[in-house]
Amino acid sequence: MTSSSSTLFLCFVAILYSLCFGTEAWATSHIPISSLITKKLYDTFFLHKDDTACPAKDFYPYDSFIRASNFFPAFGTTGCLTTRKREIAAFLAQISHETTGGWPTAPDGPYAWGLCFKEEINPQSNYCDSTNTQWPCYPGKTYQGRGPIQLSWNYNYGPAGKALGFDGLRKPEIVANNSVIAFKTALWFWMTEQKPKPSCHDVMVGKYVPTEADIAANRTAGYGLVTNIINGGLECGIPGDARVNDRIGFFERYTKLLNVDTGPNLDCSYQKSF
Ligand SMILES: *[C@@H]1O[C@H](CO)[C@@H](O)[C@H](O)[C@H]1NC(C)=O
Ligand SMILES: *[C@@H]1O[C@H](CO)[C@@H](O)[C@H](O)[C@H]1NC(C)=O
Repeated sequence: MTSSSSTLFLCFVAILYSLCFGTEAWATSHIPISSLITKKLYDTFFLHKDDTACPAKDFYPYDSFIRASNFFPAFGTTGCLTTRKREIAAFLAQISHETTGGWPTAPDGPYAWGLCFKEEINPQSNYCDSTNTQWPCYPGKTYQGRGPIQLSWNYNYGPAGKALGFDGLRKPEIVANNSVIAFKTALWFWMTEQKPKPSCHDVMVGKYVPTEADIAANRTAGYGLVTNIINGGLECGIPGDARVNDRIGFFERYTKLLNVDTGPNLDCSYQKSF
């Protein structure tokens, strides 16, 4: 081939690939997250995160999200363009619900208020599972929700810290003090399979293979299954649950802004939790 025809050919392949035709390769693309989520789009998603009303004012800058994303090279870079956008939208929607400051009649609607909180207000417990001997709680430390995914419990702080290079059991506060680490804990949760649950990433990029038990429990791939992974024990199997609908509301807004459809199985109303 001449170089111009081979360029044309590569272009053609790239277009097919990005449109999701044919067999999807699992190779990650080299299109950086920052070209799909620009600073301008990020600021449009999180219109109110830096309002004085938000306790996380100035805590979640765009650059911290990008830097943390780069630590997980498969995030938002796997599959075709639609898949990549949908995964990022799903992640940003779930962390928005976890940190929302919105209410039904809020300015710009309830789904413009993600990333308003960085730490759980009035935790009901210290979130120490003392039966867990692998990740023992450190005296005096508490493991309530912190950061974009509201990381909770010693058995999550311990392994997250180990994977990311901080002492999650002795210094859990760092998740609400350092925004890059905060975003990394959310992405760690997103990318990491915790059996019997698949990772949220695998579900959103189509790598999830349901077991027989999953099929019997209606745990089929889609945004609803991600909700099930995050908080299914409390929210799934309940038709019309308001928390599930709030998660969906963010996802619908973000996918619309990214110009992709949401995919199937938005809710987990008829799924059993893990
Ligand atoms: C986090 O910030 C709080 C309040 O500013 C401070 O007391 C604490 O020592 C910090 N913790 C870490 C681990 O950085
Ligand atoms: C699976 O979904 C169907 C409705 O689509 C429902 O009737 C059934 O009870 C669900 N099964 C479980 C285990 O929740």
